[in-house]
Amino acid sequence: MDYRRQYLRDLLASPPGGRASAYGWVKTRRDSKGVSFVQMNDGSCFADLQVVVEAGTIPEESLKLATTGACVRFDGELVASPGSGQAVELKADAMEVFGAADPQSYPLQKKGATMEFLREIAHLRMRGNTFGAVTRVRNRAAWAVHRFFQERGFSWIHTPIITASDCEGAGAMFAVSTLLEHGEKGFRLRGTDPAEDFFGKPAYLTVSGQLNVETYALGMTNVYTFGPTFRAENSNTPRHLAEFWMIEPEMAFCDLEGDMNLAEEFVREVISDVLSGCAPDLEFFNQRIEPELLKTLDHVVESSFERMTYTEAMRLLEASGESFEFPVGYGHDLQSEHERWLTETKVGRPVILTDYPKEIKAFYMKLNDDAKTVRAMDVLVPRIGELIGGSQREDDLAALEARIKEGGLDPAAYWWYLDLRRFGSAPHAGFGLGFERLIMYLTGMKNIRDVIPFHRTPGHADF
Ligand code: 4AD
Ligand code: MG
Repeated sequence: MDYRRQYLRDLLASPPGGRASAYGWVKTRRDSKGVSFVQMNDGSCFADLQVVVEAGTIPEESLKLATTGACVRFDGELVASPGSGQAVELKADAMEVFGAADPQSYPLQKKGATMEFLREIAHLRMRGNTFGAVTRVRNRAAWAVHRFFQERGFSWIHTPIITASDCEGAGAMFAVSTLLEHGEKGFRLRGTDPAEDFFGKPAYLTVSGQLNVETYALGMTNVYTFGPTFRAENSNTPRHLAEFWMIEPEMAFCDLEGDMNLAEEFVREVISDVLSGCAPDLEFFNQRIEPELLKTLDHVVESSFERMTYTEAMRLLEASGESFEFPVGYGHDLQSEHERWLTETKVGRPVILTDYPKEIKAFYMKLNDDAKTVRAMDVLVPRIGELIGGSQREDDLAALEARIKEGGLDPAAYWWYLDLRRFGSAPHAGFGLGFERLIMYLTGMKNIRDVIPFHRTPGHADF
């Protein structure tokens, strides 16, 4: 046995006639007089293969093991299907049971199990319709991301996951240390001096690959990272994970305008690729998860994103007459409720906000001539809120040093980042897109925990 065999996707697309073998997991088995129907799936496509077994063709003791969750192979004749919904079905005359699944204890039995329950069996949930579809969409989107950048000459840079620089200021970080030991009575510290630790200094899981990838932009021109990032904030929301994947392009010779153009083109192209590559999966999400899904996605592919400044957005929020939980007005950060009002209620499509007050944005964003706002941009989309955060970067050495000090940070810690402005500086810009938020947008799934295989959130690192 090796991996080269027909996927059920290929079987289902084959013309009737000839023999075939189907490998996969049983979804359901229905026995009626003289014939049994087995629905099976191998994850290669949304549709199940229907296997028809006439009484007497397969030994009863084998067939009765084909219960929900069992792993099997059926051999037989691929024939035209009289039933609706599929062109062909397999008329089986032989089978092998690789692994039975006791119907009394197999957890993925019931139709209509809640998302919360399925989260507790994350090691099995991809065998069902919803999570099979999420997995295929996620895979296709990741591939579309790479294709988008590769076709435009961007180099994929593998930025480190462990970092010794407390740089981003984007959120709390997880420490990485070997000074911590698991003792009998909980944790024990082997030492408290960072100099004695594995890296000889404090180290963390990265919150963003940006600072590292910026170095490569100033040498390789157009680059991107795509990898896991970590935030130790205690945010128990449907939109936050402690471990999530981020895509971060960075471009030399690019300003905020170019950055926004790329972000728009990127989101539109990935959506359009997934629309064409995962049509049956998206059809399912549209029917069962989010009724407006296909309409919204088609609309986004065709329309341009609204652009407005932060100041303008705050004015609209103040004049909205809505009673928000959090305050609005110049100087306040936008909360999810504000983002969603702007993009869903006010504009009705994705919005890019620009030129935020420097106080509420990171130190590396380029200062505008007004010396009050920075060349930042956030892309907000309906249902999700913030999908992308980015900016033009401060490329002037003196201005960057001043911003670092203003933020109470130590310029010495940023020596290599400052070197980029010392030697061959260039106007450059980039952004970060949260991959799981994109998958939520693409599938209509309501909780970010359900668009990543095994989620990490406060209090939860199972599997
Ligand atoms: O806006 P953020 O914090 O930006 C950065 O990290 C920059 N360094 C990016 C850059 O310019 N290269 O994060 C970028 C995006 C957010 O817009 C959001 O989609 C996602 O990452 N994100 C999260 N996704 C899931 N869980 C979390 N806890 C997230 N925090 C941010
Ligand atoms: Mg942000």
